[in-house]
Amino acid sequence: ATPVPAGPDLAGRTVVVSAGGTREPLDPVRFLGNRSSGRQGVALAVAAAHRGARVTLVAANVEDVILPREANVEVHQVETTLQLRDAVRAAATGADVVIMAAAVADFRPVASAGHKIKKTSGAPAPIELVTNPDILAELAADRLRRGQVVVGFAAETGDGQRGVLEHGREKARRKGADLLAVNEVGADLGFGDVPNEVTVLDAAGDVVARARGTKGDVAEALLDAVADRLRATTT
Ligand code: CTP
Ligand code: CA
Repeated sequence: ATPVPAGPDLAGRTVVVSAGGTREPLDPVRFLGNRSSGRQGVALAVAAAHRGARVTLVAANVEDVILPREANVEVHQVETTLQLRDAVRAAATGADVVIMAAAVADFRPVASAGHKIKKTSGAPAPIELVTNPDILAELAADRLRRGQVVVGFAAETGDGQRGVLEHGREKARRKGADLLAVNEVGADLGFGDVPNEVTVLDAAGDVVARARGTKGDVAEALLDAVADRLRATTT
């Protein structure tokens, strides 16, 4: 048999990555948002590009200076969850891999005021919220029909009842993604010498990989698991 030349293992593949954190407007100058920098998603997009993939990065409120400059990464900037959903779904058509690294707002205000909300005397009006669509769950529901590898992220803390991994397992089964990267956050984790410690679960909640190190190290380990899946589903 002819030996297969060792090349970039994602050559010819199309990969979609979402990064950053969505913002939901309250009025023209205010929003509900989160502290996600987008660095893990950017690291994934860059690593996938270096491994030969054609990458679409859907970036929600990611600082310009950290956006990738690689020729094979196309960047789409969005702000809200509904914009992120549209951009990810459009890019996901025909993609081999979709990775949801963005921190997506679970809720959004029912309405955004057309003008700046004024301070009034008396009690402020409550903010009424509605639930956003679960983009990852939607992608997961379609993944077999599309022959796609769908990946999610979950930042978890333990609580009195259950540990990080138990929460992660429950989420992996509920979401139905091929892979869920579970990251323990809180207290002294996520900072310092070991910026990240990630356990990768499959849809059944079983551990398929562990990664520890920089966001780049985590990106490479996760893409190893993705490449394994691609080989398993297309050969
Ligand atoms: N996610 C998504 N759409 C949402 C919420 C989350 O696609 N509306 C994705 C995130 O991008 C991430 C994964 O789902 O890849 C897990 O997000 P997380 O917030 O941990 O899960 P939730 O289902 O929102 O559960 P909870 O916040 O209650 O822990
Ligand atoms: Ca959430």
